[in-house]
Amino acid sequence: MQNRIEIRNLSKVYGEGSTAVKALDGVSLDVRQGETMMLLGPSGSGKTTLLSVMGGILRPTSGSVKVNGIEISNLNETRLPKVRLDNIGFIFQGFNLFPALTTLENVEIAIELRGRSIPKGRARQLLEAVGLGDKLHAYPANLSGGQKQRVAIARALAGNPPIILADEPTAALDSTSGQIVMDLLSNLARQEQRAVVIVTHDARVLHYGDRIVHITDGRMTDLPEAA
Ligand SMILES: Nc1ncnc2c1ncn2[C@@H]1O[C@H](COP(=O)(O)OP(=O)(O)O)[C@@H](O)[C@H]1O
Ligand SMILES: [Mg+2]
Repeated sequence: MQNRIEIRNLSKVYGEGSTAVKALDGVSLDVRQGETMMLLGPSGSGKTTLLSVMGGILRPTSGSVKVNGIEISNLNETRLPKVRLDNIGFIFQGFNLFPALTTLENVEIAIELRGRSIPKGRARQLLEAVGLGDKLHAYPANLSGGQKQRVAIARALAGNPPIILADEPTAALDSTSGQIVMDLLSNLARQEQRAVVIVTHDARVLHYGDRIVHITDGRMTDLPEAA
């Protein structure tokens, strides 16, 4: 099966009436297996909204989202979490780590959520792969931004998701940590044939993308964002 996302004519409106905000306005887009897609746009252009809808975290107002062939836009609350767990690794902009859990526990909990199919020791292995083997028992408060970002990545990879969605993963990082993170994500696409989408407005990392999609005011544009 191909790992992919297919989006058609997607719209998202927040709020109602005079305060309504149209965050996405007719977006159509495919993310293909093996590619790293960069989603680029100014602040407020709808990047997080689009990524959240792709990942089944947010419902669109209208339009279609297919994740590995499954239409998720109208999937009910009992089925959606399972599809999400099986298909999507989401790396949140603010990391969303549990402050009372250690690095290791933050990743283990993501494995537990998926049942028993993932071997024990996997959390440790994932953290070693992102260079955090010496921080297994540290708490998020005692980690740098780059280290927290890598915990968030290890956690998102815990279920071997075929699709990885990352919201500004280098925003809080210096350029060396940013490169480590981007190498890791783009290698997953290339070497493991996953589909990777990275939201960014960091020009330093754009070259990691096989494709750059620009978004302005909730619409896809062919032109680069205004300098
Ligand atoms: N929960 C929300 N309620 C109301 N408006 C929102 C909400 N989330 C985002 N928006 C608005 O939707 C637009 C797109 O936001 P967002 O997707 O976060 O953009 P980006 O990630 O590109 O900065 C912005 O105008 C933002 O203010
Ligand atoms: Mg955002």
